[in-house]
Amino acid sequence: MKQVTVVGGGIIGLAVAWRLRQRGVPVTVYDGGTDDAAWYAAAGMLAPAGETSFGQEALTALMVESASRWPAFAAELQQETGLDVGLDARGTLAVALTGDDLAEARRLWAYREEHDLKVRRLLPSAVRDLEPALSPRLRGGAYIPDDLQVDPRRVVAALRAALGEAVVPGRLTELPPGPVVVAAGTGTAALTGLPVRPVKGLVLRLRGEPGILRHVIVGYADGRHVYLVPRADGEVVVGATQEERADFAVSAGAVLDLLRAATDLVPELAELELAETVVRHRPSTPDNAPLLGRLRDDVVVAAGHHRNGVLLAPVTADLIAGLVVTGRPDPSLAAFAPGRFA
Ligand code: GLY
Repeated sequence: MKQVTVVGGGIIGLAVAWRLRQRGVPVTVYDGGTDDAAWYAAAGMLAPAGETSFGQEALTALMVESASRWPAFAAELQQETGLDVGLDARGTLAVALTGDDLAEARRLWAYREEHDLKVRRLLPSAVRDLEPALSPRLRGGAYIPDDLQVDPRRVVAALRAALGEAVVPGRLTELPPGPVVVAAGTGTAALTGLPVRPVKGLVLRLRGEPGILRHVIVGYADGRHVYLVPRADGEVVVGATQEERADFAVSAGAVLDLLRAATDLVPELAELELAETVVRHRPSTPDNAPLLGRLRDDVVVAAGHHRNGVLLAPVTADLIAGLVVTGRPDPSLAAFAPGRFA
């Protein structure tokens, strides 16, 4: 098969290129670097239950499918490169600080249960038995066993190692000759004319001794939403704001909001070092579902993954590589056709 050019060296572009190469297709990946890469901020929650919201049936099915592919994807990547991507399968605790937070959380949990996603509701005492660092003020919670985490920076390092010299630095301003896969995140809009908009997110990284938290925490705290993703080395990722803006400013108010929500839920976090603040943009579409499939004869798109780029990487890579190699789209791609907004 002809050489395929992948435009975009983020988690989606690299995963697609890796799967293509495994199927015998020569690839070149143009990597625009980390300055505006969404994966560089991402906490790495693999959260088909935690991130599903009302009315997203096809997307929920894709998220569940991709989560089920993550363990094998991570194991294969580790086997090929010797690099551990930090897959942690201890699950997620969703917690609510006030009665109003609990009412909001319960509506979402009910919706997720209707979609056969596992949500085990817990009394506050049971939540704190699982996660002793949580505030005694919590009004309730739920254990979500199938929502996992990886470290996106490690995933990208491993994919880059697997692809070696096939990844070249470069930010293309127009599409190269085909066959081409466009996986350029927010840059996809300028390259293709497709409606991908930037949605600003601020993420913090705290550093302390390992062991403060045992699970990923998704919290509702006085109307604010926050997630806390603990890593084995003591890092705790705190995210994230979501704003319809395209700037990179780290505002004091946004940092304050995240830290207030985080420390309301886990007071001890106030003692950690605030090691990093990162703003990046989620590549988002009018329905916040990704653009996956053929745009023209020699141009395939894999972009616009909004809040779910890390989670959706394995299924995106398999489906897009399959489309490029066979020329036939898997039926599950129909709901994500890049031309659906035309
Ligand atoms: N996936 C979480 C976020 O986009 O903030």
